[in-house]
Amino acid sequence: MDVKFSDETLALVNKIIKHYPEGKHKSALLPLLHLAQAEFNGWLSVPTMDYVASLLNIKPIEVYEVASFYTMFNMKPVGKCLLEVCRTGPCMLRGSEDIVAHIENRLGIKEGETTADGLFTLMTTECLGSCGTAPMLQCGADYYENLTNEKVDTLLEKLATVKDYSTYMRSNRQEI
Ligand code: FES
Repeated sequence: MDVKFSDETLALVNKIIKHYPEGKHKSALLPLLHLAQAEFNGWLSVPTMDYVASLLNIKPIEVYEVASFYTMFNMKPVGKCLLEVCRTGPCMLRGSEDIVAHIENRLGIKEGETTADGLFTLMTTECLGSCGTAPMLQCGADYYENLTNEKVDTLLEKLATVKDYSTYMRSNRQEI
């Protein structure tokens, strides 16, 4: 299947690229990678990164080196819902390890794994800047804060009923 943004996303891409002067379009790489990851199943395949390179008229290697540097970009397939639990100090002090253990038990997977039905991937991550509402996790564009096991159960039940995950995961993307 050819990799190509939707018309709506392409319009956004062109708007972003126009923020930068001619010859400096590479500066749009990070926002384009975020859009690509959101639109193409939550991760950046080689064809996806090559497509982004073609949009910016840069070499594919220039995309690979940036995409592989930042941990927010996934270089291999993930589930439809990527649960990223913050594991940094404040969240850890407020019980993030217990939250991770609860999710592992609930979903029958370990950190870094994806459920057999492809619905959930569990990862831990460094501080997401929401320390005052620790413990917390990110899923798509949403933060879920002051977590308890009960809140996690409610969230997993809600996510399991989403009909269109790609729309849901992109629903909060910011107008740039
Ligand atoms: Fe978890 Fe900052 S330590 S959001």
